[in-house]
Amino acid sequence: MRLSGIVVLMIVFLMSLAAALAVAEQNKGAEQMELEGGTRGPVPFPHRQHQDNLEDCNACHALFPQEAGAIGKLHAEGTLKRQQVMKEQCIACHRENKREGKDSGPTLCSQCHQRK
Ligand code: HEC
Ligand code: HEC
Ligand code: HEC
Repeated sequence: MRLSGIVVLMIVFLMSLAAALAVAEQNKGAEQMELEGGTRGPVPFPHRQHQDNLEDCNACHALFPQEAGAIGKLHAEGTLKRQQVMKEQCIACHRENKREGKDSGPTLCSQCHQRK
């Protein structure tokens, strides 16, 4: 390959790397959310605090994509069970951290669900 070809390839590579990094920077989503909690009432959720503490998006997003309303959409399609996120992720992690004596979150119904 000629030198100019290599230079062009390197420029294209660096530009796509910069674009990928910019996207990663933009796409962290809302800092604070209110999740739909059915009859028990909505669940306030500090998204950014979890991102900063856990440093692993897939601690949650392994079950649902990084999109607003993703959980409700998968519930409606029947590919995600109701309370699955709550039990397998939220409560499971908070319980495990408590057991291990680490910083943790709420494990009681009324600490998460805010009846209005
Ligand atoms: C502790 C769980 C958890 C972790 C960790 C987490 N998220 Fe989320 N994220 C959620 C929940 C819950 C929603 C809301 C889904 C819904 O609306 O159904 C969400 C939604 C989103 C959305 C779409 C909503 C919006 O406001 O635009 C984006 C984008 C997103 N997350 C990005 C990320 C990224 C990037 C990371 C890692 C740096 C991350 N999340 C880590 C739980 C988490
Ligand atoms: C750590 C926070 C947390 C705790 C503790 C918690 N929940 Fe939830 N709950 C959620 C979240 C988030 C959702 C929505 C996601 C899902 O359905 O998995 C939810 C959803 C629900 C739903 C709606 C499911 C549906 O059919 O639409 C019910 C009902 C519910 N929880 C009851 C309870 C009860 C009862 C308790 C106590 C035994 C409890 N929750 C404890 C966070 C929590
Ligand atoms: C993989 C672990 C993990 C998962 C999954 C997780 N959390 Fe947490 N959560 C934590 C930790 C750790 C803390 C304590 C953070 C701190 O002290 O700064 C916490 C704290 C909280 C708090 C208290 C925040 C405060 O400042 O008092 C709430 C509310 C909460 N989590 C809700 C949820 C909900 C709702 C979900 C599910 C959508 C969830 N968490 C999923 C680890 C997790």
